[in-house]
Amino acid sequence: MSDVNMDKLHEFVGKMLGDLGAANSVATVRVGARLGLFEALYEGGPATPAELAQRAGGLAERYVREWLMAQAANGYVMYDAKAKTFSMTPEQAMVFVVKDSPVYLVSAFDLAAATIEGEAKVEAAFRNGGGVRWGDSAGCLFCAVGDFFRPGYVNNIVQNWLPALDGIGERLDAGAKVADIGCGVGFSTLLMAEAFPNATFVGYDFHEPSIEKARKHAKAHGVADRVRFEAVTAKDISETGFDLITTFDALHDMGDPEGCAGNMKRILKPDGAWMIVEPIAGDAPEDNLNPVGRIYYNASTMICVPTSLDQEVGLGLGAQAGQAKLTEVIKAGGFGHVKRATEGPFNMVLEARH
Ligand SMILES: C[S@@+](CC[C@H](N)C(=O)[O-])C[C@H]1O[C@@H](n2cnc3c(N)ncnc32)[C@H](O)[C@@H]1O
Repeated sequence: MSDVNMDKLHEFVGKMLGDLGAANSVATVRVGARLGLFEALYEGGPATPAELAQRAGGLAERYVREWLMAQAANGYVMYDAKAKTFSMTPEQAMVFVVKDSPVYLVSAFDLAAATIEGEAKVEAAFRNGGGVRWGDSAGCLFCAVGDFFRPGYVNNIVQNWLPALDGIGERLDAGAKVADIGCGVGFSTLLMAEAFPNATFVGYDFHEPSIEKARKHAKAHGVADRVRFEAVTAKDISETGFDLITTFDALHDMGDPEGCAGNMKRILKPDGAWMIVEPIAGDAPEDNLNPVGRIYYNASTMICVPTSLDQEVGLGLGAQAGQAKLTEVIKAGGFGHVKRATEGPFNMVLEARH
């Protein structure tokens, strides 16, 4: 141990303390969110543990007190030592309370929990080289994934991403035919359908339970007459004549993304566009050794790679494939033009044309 630099060790252990604190906050954040504690604290204003316990519907004060101390230590709520009350700032509320905020992150904690639930199956796949079927690794991985991406979609698809594609906004206004492939529980499809009342939409995903949920969401949003959801793999979609195809955080999960791209080309009109939304990533691995890449690489190990390896070909692109690799895959499917239309802190948006 003589070559251990004590300063470097202290620095590293300091970082680990922060990381372990974050890991240990997963359960308390989820419990608090389900019990409405964040909402009650923010909306009702500063409270003692007893007041918050009462406000949240008569919870056990002793638990609420410990939970509040945990969140104060996390830095997720504020503590006023003089008044002995807790409160939340508007910024903390953006992350823990406001569900349509672009930085609402509670679902990211659900996703973390889902990856822990899936450990045994993924560990077995490390040993046998196989995959884990989408949705099999955790009870409701697909719900957590849908909720995790939803805030980004609510704040970007209609406002930023679709307008970045050449001429697509006008076509959607006029009444385009759209396929949302790998649509999951359908949030992206429904957001587009609500924004473009003249257009028609088909959401495709190979996971039946996701499609069932998507159909329920469509009914609840009153758009079921213009939106249809079908359980089918991307390569087997037979309907043609789409003006726009979208894939939101799904291409890299496919086992045979090149084969899927080939089918996208076949079903897209010659003058149509394919919008590929993928996690933001640089082309070189070292470009992604940052906080966003860290979240994606961890999720990719536990979710994206096992999902892809479970399917035919099993290319296993991973969530940090980067634009160069994605372009290669899309072009292998026969597309002649691929460019980056726009990007955000978590996603890049590629546009592919025949
Ligand atoms: C990370 S999720 C994203 C879901 C949804 N687009 C969203 O953003 O919430 C990836 C989705 O791709 C779907 N998927 C993976 N491989 C597929 C394939 N070969 N054909 C169709 N869907 C596929 C999964 O079922 C899953 O719903």
